[in-house]
Amino acid sequence: MDRAAERDWIMKKLNIGKELLYLTLADVKNTGFLIEDILTLTQSALIAHGKKEYEMPAKIGVHPYEEVFYHAMPAYVPSRNAVGLKWIECYPSNPSRFNLPQTTGLLVINDAESGCPLALMDATWITAMRTPAVTSLAARALHPDAETFGMFGCGVQGIEHCRFIVHTLPNLQKIYVYDIKEEIMDNLVKTVQPEIKAEIICTKDPETVARSCEVMSSATVILQEQLSVVKDEWLSGGQTILPCDLNTFWDPIISRRADKYIVDSAEEHQLFARMGYFPDGLPEIACETGEVLANLSPGREKPDELIVCSNIGMAVCDVVVGKEVFRRALDQGMGRILPL
Ligand SMILES: NC(=O)c1ccc[n+]([C@@H]2O[C@H](COP(=O)([O-])OP(=O)(O)OC[C@H]3O[C@@H](n4cnc5c(N)ncnc54)[C@H](O)[C@@H]3O)[C@@H](O)[C@H]2O)c1
Repeated sequence: MDRAAERDWIMKKLNIGKELLYLTLADVKNTGFLIEDILTLTQSALIAHGKKEYEMPAKIGVHPYEEVFYHAMPAYVPSRNAVGLKWIECYPSNPSRFNLPQTTGLLVINDAESGCPLALMDATWITAMRTPAVTSLAARALHPDAETFGMFGCGVQGIEHCRFIVHTLPNLQKIYVYDIKEEIMDNLVKTVQPEIKAEIICTKDPETVARSCEVMSSATVILQEQLSVVKDEWLSGGQTILPCDLNTFWDPIISRRADKYIVDSAEEHQLFARMGYFPDGLPEIACETGEVLANLSPGREKPDELIVCSNIGMAVCDVVVGKEVFRRALDQGMGRILPL
């Protein structure tokens, strides 16, 4: 649908400039997306990013307490006519303190023609979906024949990573998982194992995961302090590491000595480095994840390369998925239309 036709279609259901569609977490979840849909949308956002067909300033943030952040994440992706802003919060102590997720947030989707807001929606589910989609697409581009996958952190992201990764790594036989909380690991197995064929194996130590897996991801906590849980000597050539939590979980030497250090956004990583998240310095960046997906930069060139591909999260993915959530919800009469 071209832009004018899309706007006419929206206007039949929503009076742009006078109304907006409000979508709760339940509304967003119930729009009927399959994992394949999220992968396709996220891939289009990453390729647009790789081709430099986007506008997305690096996240700005506020930090009311040490170790928490709020990020303002605007983006415009012309090819999807998607423009908007995610306002996301990360409070690592939320689960223990308030029984709330550590990541929460809202997403505004705008009309690119008039600028008016079209929708305000919960961003928790979109974040929980597009993040494993990025990891899984990067895994397919960098290590398509992997039979083993390791997941550090078995919370919201850990669960979704195990669900998504089997869609892009068709040869996957075993998934090794590790979390400091055993009950969280058990919950991941209980939730995901009935849905997938690959065997999920709980481990008691991170070393077993690091020594057993070709491809690994981590979604634990993002801290300026380097936890260095995974040691360099546990790793070998040929592995692919896809952290969602910057450098926190991994010995910083791993990214520095890797054959390739790829990032979703060089600008975002440089910003985090200026804020102090890479106390030992930002490793040299080979290229961006989207450039690999768009075939503009090489991914894995040799079987024994150690590759780290750090994806800290990009608003281009949020607005592309969010725009489609808005379209589907409007089409299905979901959510509440509110006056502006
Ligand atoms: N890159 C992105 O786009 C993106 C998007 C969303 C979230 N994140 C980040 O991913 C991380 C996880 O988010 P979530 O929503 O899944 O949180 P969550 O609280 O649901 O899960 C985090 C899990 O990590 C475990 N954990 C914490 N420290 C650990 C350690 N030292 N060793 C092993 N396990 C440990 C916790 O027990 C918990 O189960 C956060 O840091 C968040 O900021 C990144």
